[in-house]
Amino acid sequence: MDKFTPDHSQFFCSEDSSKLYIKYRPTYPDRLYEKVFKFCQESETCTWELAVDVACGSGQSTLPLAKFFKQVIAVDSSEKQISQAPQHMSDISFRCGSAYDLKFISSGSVDLVTVATAFHWFDPERFFEEADRILKPGGSLILYSFGPESFTHPEADRYIQYLNLSSKYVAKYYPATEKLINRYRDVTLPYPGWRREEIEPLLYDLSIEDYGGFVASLGSAQWFTDSPRGHDLPGEIIRTLRFLCWKELDSDLDYKLTVSFPLFFVMGRKPNGGKKKQ
Ligand SMILES: C[S@@+](CC[C@H](N)C(=O)[O-])C[C@H]1O[C@@H](n2cnc3c(N)ncnc32)[C@H](O)[C@@H]1O
Repeated sequence: MDKFTPDHSQFFCSEDSSKLYIKYRPTYPDRLYEKVFKFCQESETCTWELAVDVACGSGQSTLPLAKFFKQVIAVDSSEKQISQAPQHMSDISFRCGSAYDLKFISSGSVDLVTVATAFHWFDPERFFEEADRILKPGGSLILYSFGPESFTHPEADRYIQYLNLSSKYVAKYYPATEKLINRYRDVTLPYPGWRREEIEPLLYDLSIEDYGGFVASLGSAQWFTDSPRGHDLPGEIIRTLRFLCWKELDSDLDYKLTVSFPLFFVMGRKPNGGKKKQ
């Protein structure tokens, strides 16, 4: 085991990583947000005034919230990520800041707090304390993410499962990402009646090179590449997948792999003490 310890706070902070992020990360399907909005609708106190997307990255998880909420505040600790987000939308404000310190948001003012594909980076206790402060009584807290992927191409899938990207590379450098591998089965919300659900996986048709771009956008892949025993992981994966899919590539130069990402949520509601919508 080498002693390389990546500085997690610096991840997603470089220009390159945030550009890779906006280019190669999947966006989330409408059916995911239908689930989010239905959960909010069931709240006794939701007035659709304000949603806060914590660790918003470059805004993929933020934009869909503006369809339902009058105002959306999106926060991320990386200025570079925020700089890639669309800045022209009057009902969304993007801010650089920490998930543990949202003091620019008043206590008890928020209908919905979301965290998309980021909770596994957090110190849960510190985040829950701040989320609870800003949520209205009856407000919703929803953590969701996509998990490690599989391919429909059998040999490519055997390879990627063998490589076990997440546990071999991610977990080695950052054990908290085990939460992702476990699809948040070990995450507990501090609210009574919280629940965990999965929906139909996200399916993407990606060229082998674009899949390599996706791998390059993962923090763990960058750490692995930079570590003393590391090497160019995305490059290695592209070369191996081209070898494994040579028959398909031979007959179709634009051949795409079908990639399936599991989608899962953990949802809970701050107790409302019997309050109703005003
Ligand atoms: C994988 S990205 C997810 C971005 C976006 N929510 C999405 O779904 O595309 C994780 C993001 O979490 C941010 N992040 C990590 N720790 C954070 C913290 N403590 N406070 C605020 N943002 C944080 C990173 O800067 C990064 O942009």
